[in-house]
Amino acid sequence: MPVTADQIIDALRPVEDPELRRSIVDLDMVRDVEVRGDGTVGVRVALTVAGCPLRNEIQRRVNDALQPLDGVAGVALDFTVMTDDEREALRRRLHGDPSSTAGANTAHGHAEGRAIPFAQPGNRTRPLLIASGKGGVGKSSVATNLAVALAQRGSSVGVLDADVYGFSIPRMLGTDRDPVVIDQMLVPPEQWGVRCISMGYFVPDGQAVIWRGPMLHKALEQFLTDVFWDDPEFLLIDMPPGTGDIALSLSQYLPRGEVYVVTTPQPAAQKVARLAAAMADKVHLPVKGIIENMSWFTGDDGKRYELFGSGGGRELADELDVPLLAQLPLVPALREGGDDGRPITAVQPESEAAACFRAMAEQVAVELAPRKVFSPNLRIN
Ligand SMILES: Nc1ncnc2c1ncn2[C@@H]1O[C@H](COP(=O)(O)OP(=O)(O)OP(=O)(O)O)[C@@H](O)[C@H]1O
Ligand SMILES: [Mg+2]
Repeated sequence: MPVTADQIIDALRPVEDPELRRSIVDLDMVRDVEVRGDGTVGVRVALTVAGCPLRNEIQRRVNDALQPLDGVAGVALDFTVMTDDEREALRRRLHGDPSSTAGANTAHGHAEGRAIPFAQPGNRTRPLLIASGKGGVGKSSVATNLAVALAQRGSSVGVLDADVYGFSIPRMLGTDRDPVVIDQMLVPPEQWGVRCISMGYFVPDGQAVIWRGPMLHKALEQFLTDVFWDDPEFLLIDMPPGTGDIALSLSQYLPRGEVYVVTTPQPAAQKVARLAAAMADKVHLPVKGIIENMSWFTGDDGKRYELFGSGGGRELADELDVPLLAQLPLVPALREGGDDGRPITAVQPESEAAACFRAMAEQVAVELAPRKVFSPNLRIN
């Protein structure tokens, strides 16, 4: 029995576009299905953009879906590219119409005032702000590895690199592709199950970002509104060091944000970390936990050396009355993994550090999940 075009479409329905994570049939990417006399199936797939980086992956998926079908002797796949109108229709379908929400938000600087999905009532995303009072304590490493650990638990996860001057998440995650732009909607690249947007994708290599406040504000707002985050369960925000302007903007954009403070164990660092907590307090975001990093180094002799002192994380946690979520060891593999885009949690899952990040993810996802509000007045008799 020759296969029918309807059977081909049905077989292609479960095939997802690797970036948009939607059925290529539902996305109207499948065109011109034709069953030829010799059993070859001709399929034309319309890519969202020319030079789509995942074209080969789509080809593989389509082949894998069609080859096993009875009556299919071969697959002849060719590609076309969506027209501007088709792209616009696709963007509207996936991401809504920005002009319909324009003005819903107060405009800042150059912003047009689009609504931020994460600020809307009923939005399910938990924004996790990874902060500290000073630089170099491991915020980006924590954001990267916690994101990977949350994804490993089966959650949908995005990371917004809010360190607009010192962006480092693309390198740490190893996302080598730029975001794809579909009619002004940015589709973030994904690696280790984590989607990521960073200023790093928009500045040429080696060039510094020299923007002033309002432009940064606008860039962050765009990262929240124009990116197809696709309603993730967690959006981790890698905060820049310090307590400045960006923190303030973000707290306005993410009124349900949860702050996690990273500190090193020595008392001096802890004093600075306290500044991050004070910042959180000022902008009315709760600090949900403390993460102590570089707590010790385990030598070849198996002994733990507390190179940066001890007790800072515990003390800060007690002072703020929040849990100390982890004490992360100092391990060269963590730094190396950060330098070449192979997060330790992804590539050395059996390591002590990876176990720490998994435990942290568990606490964040389960114990620190926002509780449903219980009102005694709403008792059902
Ligand atoms: N536990 C650790 N063990 C080994 N190296 C680490 C550890 N944590 C962080 N590092 C390394 O220390 C350096 C600083 O870490 P990271 O970039 O994550 O800090 P940060 O707080 O984001 O810094 P910045 O303030 O500059 O954004 C990086 O090279 C990172 O790989
Ligand atoms: Mg950083």
